Amino acid sequence: PIPVQAAADDFLRCMSASVPGNLLFPRSSPSFASVLASSVRNPRFLGPAVVRPLCIVTATNASHVQAAVVCGRRHGVRLRVRSGGHDYEGLSFRSARPEEFAVVDLAALRSVRVTVREPAEAWVESGATLGELYHAIGKATNLHAFPGGLCPTVGVGGHLSGGGFGMLLRKYGLASDHVINAVMVDAEGRLLDKQAMGRDVFWAIRGGGGGSFGIVLSWKVRLVAVPPRVTVFTVVKSAQQGAADVLAKWQEVAPALPDDLLVRVVVQGDKARFQALYLGTRDALLPVMGSRFPELGVNPAHCKEMSWIQSVPYIYIGDTATVDDILNRTVPRDSAANKATSDYVRRPISRDVWARIFSDWLARPDAGLMILDPYGGSIARVPDHVTPFSHRAGVLYNVQYMNFWGGGGDGAAQTRWVRDMYAFMEPHVSNNPREAYINYRDLDIGQNVVGAGGVTSFEAGRVWGEKYYSKANFRRLAMAKAKIDPRDYFRSEQSIPPLVLVG
Ligand code: FDA
Repeated sequence: PIPVQAAADDFLRCMSASVPGNLLFPRSSPSFASVLASSVRNPRFLGPAVVRPLCIVTATNASHVQAAVVCGRRHGVRLRVRSGGHDYEGLSFRSARPEEFAVVDLAALRSVRVTVREPAEAWVESGATLGELYHAIGKATNLHAFPGGLCPTVGVGGHLSGGGFGMLLRKYGLASDHVINAVMVDAEGRLLDKQAMGRDVFWAIRGGGGGSFGIVLSWKVRLVAVPPRVTVFTVVKSAQQGAADVLAKWQEVAPALPDDLLVRVVVQGDKARFQALYLGTRDALLPVMGSRFPELGVNPAHCKEMSWIQSVPYIYIGDTATVDDILNRTVPRDSAANKATSDYVRRPISRDVWARIFSDWLARPDAGLMILDPYGGSIARVPDHVTPFSHRAGVLYNVQYMNFWGGGGDGAAQTRWVRDMYAFMEPHVSNNPREAYINYRDLDIGQNVVGAGGVTSFEAGRVWGEKYYSKANFRRLAMAKAKIDPRDYFRSEQSIPPLVLVG
């Protein structure tokens, strides 16, 4: 092994020879802390005990990314790649274990090129945010959209790597289901498109999670059709108003509604907040809600018609937000620290259990919240082997548990709430394996073990990998990893281990 300091110095010298000095931020740079914090959404990963990179490279060109890989390989320094910095465990810019690594930050590689003549498509660079992608589409057309997540500051690079779902998931499935080409720098520093990376690797990068196969610089995506007017509504039910009964009914109704309609729920305190997007007019929506889900009591006053692009800020930021607000990349200064994890539900949870969730869990002083996203529709019609994402047919909904703390607290009580809630839910959610969503990454469900040969163990990785991807898909991901990065250069606490079949 090379002495750590010498490797770091050699890496920095190598980088200085190929990348302009103003794009390199070693720890000694006065701007290091602010560049590191620039896209960090969870201040839990900015504390003094966090393992930070030895340097950040703010690439503005593919050649800078290639140089980082070449220098990193040559001098034994690993890279982590950051697009939007929203990773729930901060793995794009910190290590959970002591390690010397550098960060390649793609925030400046963020162009979006939309073509609206059929077939409507876009090339989007990884450093763009979802807000920038949606905004560019909205500027070009009111008849197309992209089916990704709700939060406009999420980065395209991490989001598409891990799947990505939002209000259009029942109509159009995952964001990654719409990727038709990509350009990636591999562990040899080569620039590869879909054809050059080959079928297995192109399969793997569309949902197999970021940070395992290479650094994806840009993605070609298919846009989807939306009507010029869509309808949104929000209805809140408190526990006293029968939220447990309405939730029990929602579980059966929401995954079976027409594909044009998605009703998600945020459950917090004593309230369930039902938020919907319908691809059509209010007049068409009301009879559907009246016949399929009368318990929710949706009336014309709850509903608002707007364009799809207007629905993006309306749903995520609030009713006074404008379309331009989704271009704001600045992380709010008062962002709360948080801890989250996820589950999938395949059998409805009983009304009594919902009542206990309200009384025993959400009423606690340090309680967090639950977000329920219904599946069914398009996401369920794609067979599990078609992409790495395996939570499709038979899934009723995804659950996200999240808890927040601020003011410099250590988050111990809030983190304990998430872990205890997760333990309580075990009999009520998917099992064998208990499924989880990679883009809601949680290191508590398992972490890699590096084996004797300096390569991540496939067997140990199965603990977390089969939860995110299923047994068969995790194995196939590991075989794709062995093809593109057999020496395991792109590695983290939850990267795909290479599986080399002998004989
Ligand atoms: P970040 O840059 O932190 O990267 C995430 C992972 O991907 C890391 O392992 C990183 O190394 C790797 N990576 C990043 N760029 C890469 C690249 N170019 N090539 C290869 N690997 C790369 N999800 C969802 O499906 N629907 C939703 O509505 C939301 N909403 C949401 C809100 C908020 C506030 C947060 C914090 C997160 C979400 N998410 C979400 C989850 C989100 O999809 C997930 O965290 C993404 O991985 C974030 O992508 P970033 O590029 O921002 O993360």
